[in-house]
Order: sequence, then structure tokens, then C-alpha cells
Amino acid sequence: MTEKILILDFGSQYTQLIARAVREANVYCEIIPFHKSFSFEPGLKGIILSGSPFSVNDTNAPDVDVQSFIEKVPVLGVCYGAQLTARRFGGVVAKSNKREYGRAILQSKQQDVLLNGISPDSQVWMSHSDSIKELPAGFELLADTESIPVAAFRKAADQPGCPLYGVQFHPEVYHSTEGKKLIYNFLVDICGCAQDWTPAHFITDTVEALKKQIGDRKVIMALSGGVDSTVAATLISRAIGENLYGIFVDNGVLRKNEFQQVLDTYAQLGLNVKGIDAKDRFYTELAGKTDPEDKRKVIGRLFIDVFQEEAKHIDGIGLLGQGTIYPDVIESVSVHGPSVTIKSHHNVGGLPEKMHLELVEPLRNLFKDEVRKVGRELGIPADMIDRHPFPGPGLAIRILGEITEEKVQLLQEADHLYVKGLKDNNLYATVWQAGAILLPVKSVGVMGDERTYEYTVALRAVTSVDGMTADWAHLPYEFLANISNEIINQVRGINRVVYDISSKPPATIEWE
Ligand code: XMP
Repeated sequence: MTEKILILDFGSQYTQLIARAVREANVYCEIIPFHKSFSFEPGLKGIILSGSPFSVNDTNAPDVDVQSFIEKVPVLGVCYGAQLTARRFGGVVAKSNKREYGRAILQSKQQDVLLNGISPDSQVWMSHSDSIKELPAGFELLADTESIPVAAFRKAADQPGCPLYGVQFHPEVYHSTEGKKLIYNFLVDICGCAQDWTPAHFITDTVEALKKQIGDRKVIMALSGGVDSTVAATLISRAIGENLYGIFVDNGVLRKNEFQQVLDTYAQLGLNVKGIDAKDRFYTELAGKTDPEDKRKVIGRLFIDVFQEEAKHIDGIGLLGQGTIYPDVIESVSVHGPSVTIKSHHNVGGLPEKMHLELVEPLRNLFKDEVRKVGRELGIPADMIDRHPFPGPGLAIRILGEITEEKVQLLQEADHLYVKGLKDNNLYATVWQAGAILLPVKSVGVMGDERTYEYTVALRAVTSVDGMTADWAHLPYEFLANISNEIINQVRGINRVVYDISSKPPATIEWE
């Protein structure tokens, strides 16, 4: 039985960070909207109440029955969760005189297991406009800050129920320097979690569960060479071996040598994957298309066609494998009201809808960094695990304007030199994503005694955490100078290289 912590989400932007901090402590957790019912299964070890953009004093403020929770398990309220707890037990929460955002220093008032090992003047991160002004009877202050009277509190030990804590700050964010320790204390010393949520444990449990779900049926799956689909396929393959039918399509806009390299890796991993060279079909249908969304649509539709044609050749397909990960499926609380929105995202847009097959999604509960850890444990080569993200429409959205086979080859060569250069100079891991873009611009140059009139390539490298925001990577000038030389000297057809110094927002990572 897997132990579990439940995180009740009240709509904070940081809720996923709480979950990641819990998982980092090797404790399994799930996020559910605060209003969703749940049962106190034997494995449930504790509950964390998240922050929220709401005020507990709003009419219709999100509410839960904290009193009933502590009859069963320990509870930790974070920010709004702490205010809600205080209010529910009879404390007073009111607007702060000044809104408190950012750095604050904890002033510890008494020792407690929650604060074990945390320095008395620890830096914490605040983000609230309400404060707890008075604690309920039977509660004790653990810490305050210069600005607020209650920064951390507990229900007194002589009061009925399991341990109950509240912290006004956000222990889950990076700038709360000892926040992870506080979460660890709650999980291990207060909830008694055994910390057995490890990649190895996940693999054993998942392979067993997959065997049960799939039985002797066949699974078909589109593979992209990316981390998620590779790890998902490897898990499914561990469960059902040759009954997994992987399909990897060469859509003509992959990176240089990528088709063969990825197929080789799959073979090395023992995956039953068929590579399909559909380059010409893609080039034919992409001809004349210049609008980015048109190009995306053509690639998406054609991919589904190719996949479905292949599926027809395999008798008795019962399920569709997908590399869906947790951020794609978390039900989040909308800040515009307690309605539930479910993000939908499919790497191979529309495939599940078209195929009408039961889904197999072994990574549904994992964050990206956990997928990587599981991948390493499965023996997937580091090259594949640490690959930068690469968009489904591939180089098609990095060739501005119309796509031709010649342009693809030009860009593949330039991109190859760039990425190889990043790797050779130990810069690859320092950036989140990098690639070359072929601009629809020709300019004059001179090589030897000859005048040239050729294409321009833009190099892009960004730092980011999740691709939602990004900054241009400050790559060393020396490196850029060398790569520019290499590209112009080695790739006939390119006589100018520029570096993109735009951040996102207002620009985007891709140019189309
Ligand atoms: P943007 O350009 O929106 O990119 O800043 C953010 C991240 O998304 C990737 N991206 C895509 N991925 N299909 C994909 O699978 C697409 O159509 C697509 N467009 C952008 C992009 O590479 C970056 O990682």
C-alpha cells in the first residue's frame, strides 16, 4: 500500500510546488480541488491545505471541514490554508495594514518538531494581504515576523485530534530557504511517512499495475524520441514486451540523423518500435504552406493518418499508450471562481479522440523531473533523458515561411553544428532549449573573391523552468563566434548568423 499525502488546492499558483516538495522527500502525494470528496484510505497519512488568491472573509470563500480532517490525520495549512484553519477554530483573520509580499525573517517563539533544524531567523517568503490577528483558544504561537503577529502556529498538544499546524509563509517556494526542511518535518516526524516513494518503487508498482490493466491485449503507441514517450513505452514494454507496438514516424522535419539515432536507442532498450519514413508525404502536403498554424495542422493531421494506417496492419489492438504527465492532468481550481478546469494537452494532438481506444498512461502521476529519474533508473541513456524539449512540428516551425526539402537540409546542418557545439563546450545542460531557425531572408556576403547571396540563420537558446517564461541564454561570445564561423564555413547556402536576444514574454521561444 502506497502512503499518500493529499494536497487540497484552493487555487494558489504555488500548489504544484508543494506537491513537488513532498515528492522530493520521496513521499507520494496528490493534488485535488478543495471541494472534491475523498476517502480516508488507510494509506492517507496527512493533508496539506494550499494557499489561495481568495480571502477567508470573502463571501463564498473556499472552505473545508478542517475539524473533521484532524479526527483522522495531521493537517498543515499553508497561507490561506493557515488562515482558514485559524478562522474555523475561532481565531481572527483580517486585512493586514500593509500587504506583505516577498522576503521576511521568522522569529521563532518556541521549539516544535515542525521547526526542528530550522534556524531561529530563517528567511521565508510571504504573499498575502490578510493576516491572522488572533489565534483560536487552545492554539499556540510558534513564530512571528517583524510585520505579522502569527507566522506559524500549532494546535496545543492537550487539545483533541491529530496534530494541526499553520504557516503564513510559503515553505514550498525556493526563497523560503529552509522551507523544504519544514515540509520534511511535517511529512516524516508528524505524519510518520516512510519515504518509500522512489523511482525503483514506482517502477515495480507501475509494471505490476500495467500488467493488470493490459492483460494479454495489445498496446499501440506513437513515440517521438522525447523523454516522456520513451519512458512510458519502456515501462509498458517491461509489463507486456512485444505486445507493445511503438510507431515512430519520420515526418521530414526531425533533426539531422535523429530518425536513425532514436530507432537505434529504442532497439537498444528492447522496445518493439517500427520506424516509418513518411518524409515525402509530409513534404508534398507542406508545399506552398506558409502560415504557422496551417503547417501545424498539416503535420498533425498527416501524422494521425500515417499512424492509423499502420494501426490497421496490427490485429487486435486494444489500447493506446500515451506519455501524459501530471501537469497535463492536474485538476486546478480556477481563480475566477471555484469551478474546475482540466487542462488538456496531447503531444500528438487529437490521437486519442480519433482512435477511440482505452488509454494507458503510466506517467499520469509524475512531474517531469520524476519522469527523468524513472528514466535513469530504467537505464535509458542520458542523451535521451537530458534532451532539450523539441516541438512536435519540429523544424517546420523553425523554417519561417514555406518548407522545402532543401531548406530542411540546410537547417539540419546548421542546427547540428550548433547543438554539437553546445554539447562539446558543456553548455547544453546550462540552457533549457536551443535550436537554429532558418529565416526567409537572403543577404549579400563575400567568400573569397565571390559575392554570395544566401540565407540567414538565427540561433536561439533560452533559460527557463517550464517554458512558460524564458530568458535568452547569455552564451559566451567566444562560443557564438566559433559557431558562427563553423556554420558559415560548412553550410553552403548560409552566409549570416544572428543570435536571438529576446525574452518570453514578449517574444516566444519558437519563432512560429
Ligand atoms: P513557445 O514558442 O510557445 O514555446 O514559447 C514553448 C514551448 O512549447 C514548444 N512548442 C510546441 N510543442 N507543438 C509542440 O509539441 C507545438 O506546436 C509547439 N509550439 C511550441 C516549444 O518548443 C517550447 O518548448
